[in-house]
Amino acid sequence: MTTVITYGTFDLFHVGHVNLLKRLSSLGDRLIVGCSTDEFNLEKGKKALIPYEHRAKILSSCRYVDSVFPESTWDQKPDDIIREKADIFAMGNDWSGKFDYLSDICRVIYLPRTEDISSTELRSIVHAYRQDEIQQVKTAVSSLSQMIEKL
Ligand code: CTP
Repeated sequence: MTTVITYGTFDLFHVGHVNLLKRLSSLGDRLIVGCSTDEFNLEKGKKALIPYEHRAKILSSCRYVDSVFPESTWDQKPDDIIREKADIFAMGNDWSGKFDYLSDICRVIYLPRTEDISSTELRSIVHAYRQDEIQQVKTAVSSLSQMIEKL
């Protein structure tokens, strides 16, 4: 039984996440995922749009994922790897080299990221859409008050 472990925020679950999880699951028999909590994301300077409970539920429903647990600190990884008897620690290659210190206790692998998609980009689209909606409401209110003034 080969166990693979990975970590991430997985906000606004997208095809880059699916591609990674599919490749990770093919490396072993069991894939477990540490999903960053909202508090830990704030520590990392990241604000997920989707709350932890929902992100963890979405990840758990993915066919490639066997179980999900909270990632709440930077330094929990060695304990998780030992507790879960993980053979392979793997992440996308935006993290290349960052976790080589774990190679004392398991194999460390970095896989290529899917190009042209990220949660950051999706969050900025949602944000721009919201700003656009706010602007439309402001314009509507302004023309309404001009009409009222003329009455
Ligand atoms: N990932 C990937 N391809 C992408 C986006 C992410 O392979 N296009 C991988 C990351 O390398 C990481 C995992 O998915 O191993 C979880 O990454 P996460 O940080 O949640 O995804 P991002 O979309 O990169 O999120 P953000 O923009 O908030 O950093």
